[in-house]
Amino acid sequence: MPKLVIAIDGPAGAGKSTVAKALAKELGLKYLDTGAMYRAVALAASREGLKADDGERTAEVASHTEISFGEGDPPPILLNGEDVSSQIRTPEIAELASALSTHSAVRKELVKRQQALVAEGGFTLEGRDVTTVVAPNAQVKVYLTASLEERATRRHVEMQEKGMSAPEYDDLRRQMQTRDHRDITRDESPLSVAPGATLIESGGMTIDQVVQKIKWLIPIED
Ligand code: DC
Repeated sequence: MPKLVIAIDGPAGAGKSTVAKALAKELGLKYLDTGAMYRAVALAASREGLKADDGERTAEVASHTEISFGEGDPPPILLNGEDVSSQIRTPEIAELASALSTHSAVRKELVKRQQALVAEGGFTLEGRDVTTVVAPNAQVKVYLTASLEERATRRHVEMQEKGMSAPEYDDLRRQMQTRDHRDITRDESPLSVAPGATLIESGGMTIDQVVQKIKWLIPIED
């Protein structure tokens, strides 16, 4: 029996990270936040003065950039060894990451690394293409979503709790809507419900309820 892989895709603010981290903890799996890798590449690109349409040059920058995760809970993301965990969480970097992720050269570079990371299994990973492209053979595939209003409210509260400078709720909701639309309609591996994936509407559910529901999806070993 290959080691367990749980792959979770869904739009921004659906609770993917929280749920994936909780599952990793409960089940003793490693956790991979693929969005953090797109955000790290976006940060590296912006430091080089690159813009949203500089796909080829961004892929080139990415190919020379070491992206790794340090020790910790949650694991810090390192860009050439520098901890950039907070810097990648701004709305500007979220927007640039979404725009740059539409370029196939950028995706190719990151998918290759993500597949190498999870090759041995024992992972829970989350993103926009982990059930469709990165780990289509995962034993558990979930599409986690909720209404735009619920997701924006959740993200807004989360940013305030973390002491981050949160935009006005309406602005945040608009930003998330634009980003979702781009992530869903892009030509290159758009966010979609993978064949065999279970759709979970997290609206009105607690994190623990979502976690338990996903645990029920794990196939029983013989
Ligand atoms: O999950 P996140 O909000 O940190 O992701 C930021 C952006 O990165 C997202 O809007 C689209 C892109 N992304 C992607 O294209 N594929 C992934 N597997 C993860 C993120």
